[in-house]
Amino acid sequence: MNILLIGSGGRESAFAWKLSQSPKCEQLFIAPGNAGTGQYGTNVDIKVTDFEGIKAFVLSNGINLVIVGPEEPLVKGIHDFFLNDEQLKNVPVIGPQREAAQLEGSKDFSKQFMQRHNIPTAASRTFTRDTLQDGLSYLATQGLPVVLKADGLAAGKGVLICLTLQEAQQELVEMLTEAKFGEASSKVVVEQFLQGIELSVFVLTDGNSYKILPEAKDYKRIGEGDSGLNTGGMGSVSPVPFADEIFMRKVEERVVIPTVEGLKQDGIPYKGFIFIGLMNCEGEPWVIEYNCRMGDPETESVLPRIESDLIDLLMGVAEGNLIEKQFTISPKIAATVVCVAGGYPGEYLKDKAISGLDNVRGSIAFHAGTGMQGEDVITTGGRVLAITSLQDDLFTALQQATLDASRIYYDGKYFRKDIGFDLL
Ligand code: AMP
Ligand code: GLY
Repeated sequence: MNILLIGSGGRESAFAWKLSQSPKCEQLFIAPGNAGTGQYGTNVDIKVTDFEGIKAFVLSNGINLVIVGPEEPLVKGIHDFFLNDEQLKNVPVIGPQREAAQLEGSKDFSKQFMQRHNIPTAASRTFTRDTLQDGLSYLATQGLPVVLKADGLAAGKGVLICLTLQEAQQELVEMLTEAKFGEASSKVVVEQFLQGIELSVFVLTDGNSYKILPEAKDYKRIGEGDSGLNTGGMGSVSPVPFADEIFMRKVEERVVIPTVEGLKQDGIPYKGFIFIGLMNCEGEPWVIEYNCRMGDPETESVLPRIESDLIDLLMGVAEGNLIEKQFTISPKIAATVVCVAGGYPGEYLKDKAISGLDNVRGSIAFHAGTGMQGEDVITTGGRVLAITSLQDDLFTALQQATLDASRIYYDGKYFRKDIGFDLL
């Protein structure tokens, strides 16, 4: 099969690595990819939202399967674009259509979906500029802290956890009347704060049946001990020790099944990955958010644990016979440590030459924000590399990933040395 993978981050590097191992993979293209994805396939210089460019490439290269990594093209309707095009409509796309992608693209849509299908989630109400006064009064009736969420995509910055009523009211005003997060905050979800430990659960579905992929935990803060600013993700581990059989059974019965069935009942087709962000509150799962794609850097820990052929599974999604596909998960433990650029998540250093990649021995170095400058691999993004190690126990996996992260050099390199140690 000829495959086009869309995206350029650590997640897509992990996908490219896994896809390239399948005997079904003839040619793998990554648009636009990064300096690392070129090891597993051919990078093509097309932007993830350039649908016409993608169309031309798919037609001229006999692509049989398109896999969409990031949310933006999904929320913008890449799958609908294929279905509505005479020449493309028979080329399967992995990733939901625009309507279903609203599970990520609109917090209000996802809250309404969860409420309609009795999926456990924090109590909430949605406000707009017209109902600002109601929102301010509602806030005064809520406990603290209270959570404010911009409805639309806000590059991971649209969620505010407010500690005082004054702060919450001021933020609500800024979001609704001063477009603090642009168009994304023209609607704001005000939500009850949930106290607990987070984890990410991933589901692959063809719209009828599903497979629950290995769960993972990601580490969002820049600093050790989960301190400092939020980032795209500084590391991940899979499995998550507290997600035991009893907890995962609750997740399946209360969240996964109602989600897949709810989509069906609502007449919303879904072919792709569902990322369920959960809070474990004293052993009970509560949904914090849905994403319409895999997580990053969770994917880097999740895919190495999947032993089955990924293309076979994805063809099951495309053809609607996922239920028949064999699915095995490795009992091994994966740990991922992300190396970031100096300054990240603020303004960060770029174009720094990377060396030492050949010194990585017991891990896989998935590239994220990298590019080529002549013969040199250079940094191009905030999250530069995701170093993943798969081992028999969590301690060894963490130690190995951390050791290999320390074997790489570039100006300003930083990584957290405490990823996963809270779980030991
Ligand atoms: P989101 O953009 O929905 O992933 O939210 C970003 C982060 O905010 C989540 O990963 C949580 O850490 C936190 N968060 C979101 N909603 C809540 C909530 N209701 N209670 C506590 N923390 C939350
Ligand atoms: N790691 C969180 C995300 O991918 O959104």
